[in-house]
Amino acid sequence: MAKTMRAVQVPRAGGPLELVDRDIPEPQPGWVRVKVDACGVCHSDSLIKEGLWPGIQYPRVPGHEVIGVVDLVGERVKPWKRGQRVGVGWHGGNCGYCDHCRRGEFFACEVALLTTGISFDGGYAEYMVAPAEALARVPDELSAIDGAPLMCAGVTTFNALRNSGARGGDVVAVLGIGGLGHLGVQFAAKMGFKTVAIARGKDKEAFAKQLGAHHYIDSRASDPAAELNKLGGASVVIATVTNADAMTAVLGGLAPNGVLMVIGAAGPLSVDPILLLSGCRSVKGWYSGTSIDSQDTLNFSTLNAVHSMNEVFPLERAAEAYDRMMSGKARFRVVLQIGSKA
Ligand SMILES: NC(=O)c1ccc[n+]([C@@H]2O[C@H](COP(=O)([O-])OP(=O)(O)OC[C@H]3O[C@@H](n4cnc5c(N)ncnc54)[C@H](OP(=O)(O)O)[C@@H]3O)[C@@H](O)[C@H]2O)c1
Ligand SMILES: [Zn+2]
Repeated sequence: MAKTMRAVQVPRAGGPLELVDRDIPEPQPGWVRVKVDACGVCHSDSLIKEGLWPGIQYPRVPGHEVIGVVDLVGERVKPWKRGQRVGVGWHGGNCGYCDHCRRGEFFACEVALLTTGISFDGGYAEYMVAPAEALARVPDELSAIDGAPLMCAGVTTFNALRNSGARGGDVVAVLGIGGLGHLGVQFAAKMGFKTVAIARGKDKEAFAKQLGAHHYIDSRASDPAAELNKLGGASVVIATVTNADAMTAVLGGLAPNGVLMVIGAAGPLSVDPILLLSGCRSVKGWYSGTSIDSQDTLNFSTLNAVHSMNEVFPLERAAEAYDRMMSGKARFRVVLQIGSKA
């Protein structure tokens, strides 16, 4: 077997994405090596590229929407076998025994919170290693390219929706129809919510309706809060935009007890306390999910025909793929095709 592989790394904060040859990594005890077939390109990769996340050690290989095959199993890894198809998402592991982990607050683990493509090298490479607990099983019928975006864009929106408190028939809006949002609309519709897509401009309306949106609001042509109120107010708004003002603009459209679930990393958000307290409304953050949440997302998507629409690039064009994602012009997720089984 070859000893080296191709990988795309960020050499330093603010540096370019560069194609390099690297040694194929060896899994430590409790970890597995994955031969990568496909990896999605997420807006959150900009945190690594631009050094916006604390404590990143460079060079770093980004990529947290990975689908591949178990290639080598480290010591003490019980259920996983070579040849199994697996996914690796943003959440790379947590200690499992601190107070936060025992309360189910994995994202607040203070002992060993690991993030794929940040704490350890991710999937912009032919091989990567990951903790066994970070692996999700992949349904046979789901291709690597179709599955990859579900490992972050998918699990985040799916998990936010299923934990939002909304019930079948409630008005649920998805703000921002990009990589995350176009999956969020499909999940919301398939979960039985009265689904509203909100984006700027007219050009996404037909597509949003094809995805299952019952209503479309063009936030440039009308006030999205007023439009939501015409529908009775939103029980939940899943905010995937990367802009805080766009989030503020929908707050007035929350129904009593409504929740704005903030998913997009945006600047400071301004919220009118009177609006919150007078209707017991809230603003809540949502953070990704664990590997079992990812596995549930893959299964739900396969069962209900939720599909990511992807633009596919080969690994060596990762820099171009990243720029395409950042341009906002991609329709709708960008995925790197890496292995032969993609
Ligand atoms: N919370 C989590 O666990 C989690 C997980 C994954 C990603 N994220 C974050 O989620 C966000 C979305 O990621 P993504 O990969 O889906 O990005 P993306 O594909 O670039 O989509 C971003 C969306 O934001 C919209 N937008 C940007 N500026 C806007 C503005 N001024 N007004 C209205 N809409 C605006 C874009 O609309 P246009 O198409 O009109 O430009 C686009 O629909 C990122 O901040 C990412 O870091 C969070
Ligand atoms: Zn992501």
